[in-house]
Amino acid sequence: MITINEHYLKLQASYLFSDIAGRVAAFQEKNPDKDIIKLGIGDVTKGLTRSAVDAFHKAVDEMADTTTFRGYGPEQGYGFLRDAIAANDFQSRGADISADEIFVSDGAKCDTGNIQELFSRDIKIAIPDPVYPVYLDTNVMAGRTGEFAEGRFKGLVYLDSTKENKFVPSLPAEDVDLIYLCFPNNPTGSTITREELKTWVDYAREHKALILFDAAYEAFIRDESLPKSIYEIEGAKEVAIEFRSFSKSAGFTGTRCAYSVVPKECTAYDSKGNKQLLHSLWNRRHCTKFNGVSYPVQRAAEATYSEAGKIQTRALTDYYMKNAELICKTIAKLGYEYAGGQNSPYIWIDGGMDSWQFFDMLLNKTGVVCTPGAGFGKCGNGYIRISAFNSYENVEIAMARVKEALS
Ligand code: MLT
Repeated sequence: MITINEHYLKLQASYLFSDIAGRVAAFQEKNPDKDIIKLGIGDVTKGLTRSAVDAFHKAVDEMADTTTFRGYGPEQGYGFLRDAIAANDFQSRGADISADEIFVSDGAKCDTGNIQELFSRDIKIAIPDPVYPVYLDTNVMAGRTGEFAEGRFKGLVYLDSTKENKFVPSLPAEDVDLIYLCFPNNPTGSTITREELKTWVDYAREHKALILFDAAYEAFIRDESLPKSIYEIEGAKEVAIEFRSFSKSAGFTGTRCAYSVVPKECTAYDSKGNKQLLHSLWNRRHCTKFNGVSYPVQRAAEATYSEAGKIQTRALTDYYMKNAELICKTIAKLGYEYAGGQNSPYIWIDGGMDSWQFFDMLLNKTGVVCTPGAGFGKCGNGYIRISAFNSYENVEIAMARVKEALS
């Protein structure tokens, strides 16, 4: 008899964004004339940059010619892309990361979900609340939690991110082994200072813990004093793995390219307390389960680092940040408290009522889709998240409707 992994039965019925998509589809079916504007899932809407598209086309032509054709590439990514990443995203900011510490992949969602395979079942995990659901659900699937009760899974240490701590959680009161951090944060849009991030690195060093640092939104940081990478903090290389993505920074949500950074000195321990290097374990996993991102996609990603590519890519995030500014202005005028939107494409709004109720009310009255904060955890209840990913014209229409409906 084939039996299932029963940990799956502990999960909430469906993945948050699938749940929302289902509700929006049902609403649209009932209200076919209603014009819906999606400011829910953080999915980009602008086309790829000229540089990326030209490189993409050129690489596709190379694939069509037997003399330049490429079959399987290196699982970890082509040297040309890993070199460009290391030089531009890290070395240029004083972070000593080398190309062979970069693992190119098809998404930060997959990477942040897959990385937990390297760790034992009985580690103590600290997870923010609210949180990007992937960190949580993948650990539930792996059996690292108890049952779900009163909005939380048993066995985890939740790091509350609230108005009181400006959505930057404090260090846990008890010992933990694995810590998930995401800055600029999804969903709250909050950022972390160098000093605050250093307290986490120091904690991890002291407790032989590991930080999984999700920096998928670093390209939206406008305040130059904020760290973009955890490796800008001294001592982080031994205790942190970082995740990055071209999805939001360069409009690659449908093109698929991301990477994780596993420094060679990054350490975990076996059951006897012996040091084990995570770089070789992740490399082993990557080679076994992944066959690399396609050559044209990696060429397109590489092109985002050319001189023209950098300017064009920056223009993409500037475009969405203008949307964020308009959303923040509207929300502030309506008298709502909010976080984010300054160095992040997400605006986290205290709606003053149950978040699913707010979601339904907004959809019914305005046709605007947001994400209910409760979908990100218990601390998210009462909040909604509005994403800045849409055209400026649509955001203008959406905000005019919101103003009218909520004034
Ligand atoms: C979000 O809206 O939180 C993100 O788009 C989800 C993702 O990147 O997977």
